[in-house]
Amino acid sequence: MELAQRATNISPSPTLAVDARAKEMRARGVEVLNFSAGEPDFDTPEHIKEAAVAALKAGMTKYTPVDGIPALKRAIIEKLERDNGLRYTPQEIVVSAGAKHSLYNAFQVLCDEGDEVILPAPYWVSYLEQIKLAGAVPRIVMTREENGFKLTPEELEESITPRTRVLVLNTPSNPTGAVYTASELAALGEVALRHGLVVISDEIYEKMVYDGTNHVSIASLAPELRASTVVVNGVSKAYSMTGWRIGYAAAPAEIARAMTALQSHATSNPTSIAQAAAVAALTGPQDALEAMVREFDRRRRYMLEALGELPGVRCVPPAGAFYAFPNVKGLLGRTYRGRPIASATDLAQLLLEEVQVAVVPGVAFGTDEYLRLSYATDLERIREGMARLAAFVKELR
Ligand SMILES: Cc1ncc(COP(=O)(O)O)c(C=O)c1O
Repeated sequence: MELAQRATNISPSPTLAVDARAKEMRARGVEVLNFSAGEPDFDTPEHIKEAAVAALKAGMTKYTPVDGIPALKRAIIEKLERDNGLRYTPQEIVVSAGAKHSLYNAFQVLCDEGDEVILPAPYWVSYLEQIKLAGAVPRIVMTREENGFKLTPEELEESITPRTRVLVLNTPSNPTGAVYTASELAALGEVALRHGLVVISDEIYEKMVYDGTNHVSIASLAPELRASTVVVNGVSKAYSMTGWRIGYAAAPAEIARAMTALQSHATSNPTSIAQAAAVAALTGPQDALEAMVREFDRRRRYMLEALGELPGVRCVPPAGAFYAFPNVKGLLGRTYRGRPIASATDLAQLLLEEVQVAVVPGVAFGTDEYLRLSYATDLERIREGMARLAAFVKELR
């Protein structure tokens, strides 16, 4: 059987592969400490679940408008105005089956074959595959740790060619936790506007920010930027709703219309009762979210301190999301009980096999000198995992 070129070009998700391996070891009775999770370890708040149950009981079991029910669009519009200072009309909002789906739609309607998309690295791996699936060419720009893993206007300018069409921004970032300031975004926006680029701004981690950091949407900085940005967000991370699959895009009407048309032939509307739940998430009490972020912050501080005590490891403090992204270059070239560590991939493999700690090697995000450790797991497990990591590092020769 010959598959289409498109299918053979797709790489399976390395983060899911680590997770699968850890789960398989667990199933064999091995006690694995899993730091590869990309989702909050909290349950969806009760009032959100109840809204879905009520919708189900009320018979909300049919097709809805492709781009989302009016109540959800209203809730999203209010949220964007309240939190981001952005004003949109219902025609500019498209609700999809998760932010991942919103991003997929955006790349599909914005990119022609051979168009270039600027992707700052370290990047979340699905951008790369979605860009390729749209027939576009990812132009990966490696950001620097000294700059807090943030793309500079100079780096952006240098990467632009006559084929460049889109710039991807992800703030707060998975995997680095970098959060762009308003002035950094304004400087990037100026370059993007000058070259006629469309910005896809993935803001799914906006609620997870620490140390007094503010999340800013690039679209809010100037009317011209609003007119050339697709803002992507959703309820997965903020409301512990990863399984419900509700994400959304806010975009100029022409782009939103095209995304809706595409979606109408692929998946139609996102799940009806999940949309009702998302309305409750966006309009209801926010105290569960606030408690979750406080707990993430506690874990983040603990993990950073523990990582800081490991010789050969250094970590830029993440200002957002729920991942630490330590540089492990100082451990490469060494051996653990005779087994060589040439890359962060080797290191991740040894950590899993030798001390049963699951982490994602940086290669999944475009660089093999880092590890990603999620702190969306309880403090007890983080303590134990950090102790195992310290014992492992002590044994390196
Ligand atoms: C940066 C980033 N964007 C988007 C998503 C997708 O979120 P959703 O569950 O809403 O599809 C994720 C999930 O891991 C993510 O890390």
